[in-house]
Amino acid sequence: MSRVEHVLVTGGAGFIGSHTVDALLADGARVTVLDDFSNGKRTNLPGAHARLKVVAGDVRDAAAVRSALDGATHVLHLAAQVSVQASVADPVGSCRQNVVGFLTVLEAARAAGVKRVVYASSAAVYGTPRELPLTESSPVAPISPYGLEKSIDDQYGRLYADLFGLAPLGLRYFNVYGPRQDPRSPYAGVISKWAAALAEGAPVRIFGDGKQTRDFVYVGDVAQVNLRALAATATGVCNVGTGTSVTLLELLATLERAAGRVAEQRFEAPAPGDIPDSATSTGRLQAILAPGPFTPLGTGLAALLAGR
Ligand SMILES: NC(=O)c1ccc[n+]([C@@H]2O[C@H](COP(=O)([O-])OP(=O)(O)OC[C@H]3O[C@@H](n4cnc5c(N)ncnc54)[C@H](O)[C@@H]3O)[C@@H](O)[C@H]2O)c1
Repeated sequence: MSRVEHVLVTGGAGFIGSHTVDALLADGARVTVLDDFSNGKRTNLPGAHARLKVVAGDVRDAAAVRSALDGATHVLHLAAQVSVQASVADPVGSCRQNVVGFLTVLEAARAAGVKRVVYASSAAVYGTPRELPLTESSPVAPISPYGLEKSIDDQYGRLYADLFGLAPLGLRYFNVYGPRQDPRSPYAGVISKWAAALAEGAPVRIFGDGKQTRDFVYVGDVAQVNLRALAATATGVCNVGTGTSVTLLELLATLERAAGRVAEQRFEAPAPGDIPDSATSTGRLQAILAPGPFTPLGTGLAALLAGR
């Protein structure tokens, strides 16, 4: 593992980004955040910090990325348009954000001689799984522009390794949850929406029968995986999940226990494009990054409810 001295974190004011910035600063690294604040918030980041620089700018703006890269030894690229629904509504705009934005960052890294680029890919590249658990060699068959954009990023990553000797690693995150995920966003994950509904005493909406399975991974664990990925040398892609999937009804029961409240359940028609089941192997993650034990779901949900 190499020493991570100075990291440019694009999208660093967002949900996963801000938790990773906290972890990098705690680890002694210098951090530059580049974020356009379209979804992230300044308040997600520490106030004044000697080793943190926050730059407002767009990853599609090559000059802004070049300038933000000044002095950086590593790049963590998280900035993206993160909504599957928005990618269906505006595929061209989403492609500019998620493909052109990533390519702009890769190009700037190449020009600056920064070889290690860790970036956010997604489990969405697999579409509707034909086999479970998913491994990195499972078929890539996205069912949304968002998933397709992330799979194109994976191909650009591979090409930049071959053509230019960059060392990119794409992290295919599964369902990340934790504090700072905005429940008011129409695209928020099920956990932050249900947590908000429970807190308000409002009914929780369950699309379908609630028996769909997902791998929920705590954001603090993802931040630690990101740190290890920056320091490591493995390239290609890597699934990031706990290896244990639960049904949405099991998730709700765990959330209710953590909150000490029982929710009124409202079942609704399945959401279009919702996949029935998802699960990942952690073989490559353990082999190349060897993260510590994952936070148990009940513990992570309690932290989310406490807003930490
Ligand atoms: N949250 C998950 O479960 C999950 C799962 C798979 C993949 N991902 C990926 O992880 C990354 C981080 O996701 P998140 O959940 O923290 O979302 P987020 O929206 O909280 O973070 C994204 C950040 O990028 C910023 N941003 C967006 N467009 C930008 C641009 N053009 N220039 C500069 N900054 C820009 C936003 O303001 C925001 O702060 C994304 O690439 C997302 O696709 C997330």
